[in-house]
This record gives sequence, C-alpha cells and structure tokens, in this order.
Amino acid sequence: MELDTLQALYLEGLRDLYSAENQLLKALPKMRKAATNPQLQDAFNTHLAQTEQQVARLERIFEQLGKSPKGKHCKGMEGLIEEGNDLMKEDADPDVLDAGLIAAAQHVEHYEIAGYGTCRTYAELLGLDEQMDLLQQTLNEEEETDVLLTELAMTSVNIAAMSGDEDEMSDESEGGSNSRGGGRASGSGQKKTAGKTPAKKSMGGSRGKTSGAKRGSSAGSRSKK
Ligand SMILES: [Fe+2]
Repeated sequence: MELDTLQALYLEGLRDLYSAENQLLKALPKMRKAATNPQLQDAFNTHLAQTEQQVARLERIFEQLGKSPKGKHCKGMEGLIEEGNDLMKEDADPDVLDAGLIAAAQHVEHYEIAGYGTCRTYAELLGLDEQMDLLQQTLNEEEETDVLLTELAMTSVNIAAMSGDEDEMSDESEGGSNSRGGGRASGSGQKKTAGKTPAKKSMGGSRGKTSGAKRGSSAGSRSKK
C-alpha cells in the first residue's frame, strides 16, 4: 500500500491493531493458565473478554471505512507474545512466574496504548468522531488494565515473588537462572517499589519503577475527551 495520506497511515495502524488483538486473543488463555494467583487469573479473564469487544470495535470501524481489516501482521505483538512464551517455558517458581506474567502483560498493554493512542489521534484529525470514540473506549480499557496490573503487582504478586529472594541471595552459586528470575520479577509497572522494601530486596524494583508510571506513551496521542 502506498502511504501517501494520513488516512492511509490510519488504516495501516488499525490493521496492525487488529492483528495485534487477534494474536492476543490466542495468547491470553495460555497466560491465564500459567498464572497461579487467582486475582491475576481473573485479570487475564477480564481482559480476554475486553479484547473480544475491542476486536468487535475495530471491525465496526473497518465496516464504516468500507475496508478489510486483514492484510497486516503485527510483528511487535508477535515479539511480545514470544517473550511471554519464553517466560512460560522457564522452570520458574510460581510466584515469580506470576510476577513475570504481569511484566509481560504490561509490555503488551503499553504497546497497545501506543497504537490506540496514535490511531485515536488520527481519527480526531480526520474528523472521524465516532471512530475516535470507539478507539478512546479501548484506550481507556487498556489503561485501566495497566493500572490494575500495577496494583496487583504492588499488593500481592511481587510481594509473594520476593519471598524466595533471601534464599536466592544467599545462594549465589546458582548464578544465571536466579538473576534472570529476579529481574523479571520486578514487573514493568511498579511506581513506588524502591522506597517500600529493604534495599537488598528491591532489585529490579527501582529499575522498573518509572516505565509504568506514565500511562500512554504514543507521541502526542493521549488527550482524552
Ligand atoms: Fe487490546
């Protein structure tokens, strides 16, 4: 396709999102199955139902545009899902795996927030108000999911994952796999981990604390109605 107009770029962005959401529809049940924490399982279930609605909203938009939703494969989402799959193949402590699943899910949410924010802004610029509203609804859901995941990480999942840290800290000989697990347990969305935990337990927490603090990362796309 020749990208000679903003309309064409908008269509490309929508097709990318459509592909991303459909890939996520297949991945979320696996993530739910891999999760141990009941609240995290619920969060994945809820987001699966939301994702079905989000696909339906995109289909409505394509219908209005008189275009097919197909024709693009979202490589970004493919990579994020693959990272999640790699994580699930690890021989991980269940609590640490939960923390890693939150981190993987938040990577996905932030990616989607960027995509939806951008398309929402294009719809606004193109005067497509109804489509802008549909995209804003999804954007709100993605942001709410991101916040929910951060809350879950802060209140239970990462705390549980930290319970194994003392053993790991005193067992340096284990080497690579421990440090890998610990890093992933940090989650991507923590906003204030570092100050709440003893220094030796905060590994990764402070490193991750800023990335999730700002919701919505796409360029110039975050204004809400
Ligand atoms: Fe989504």
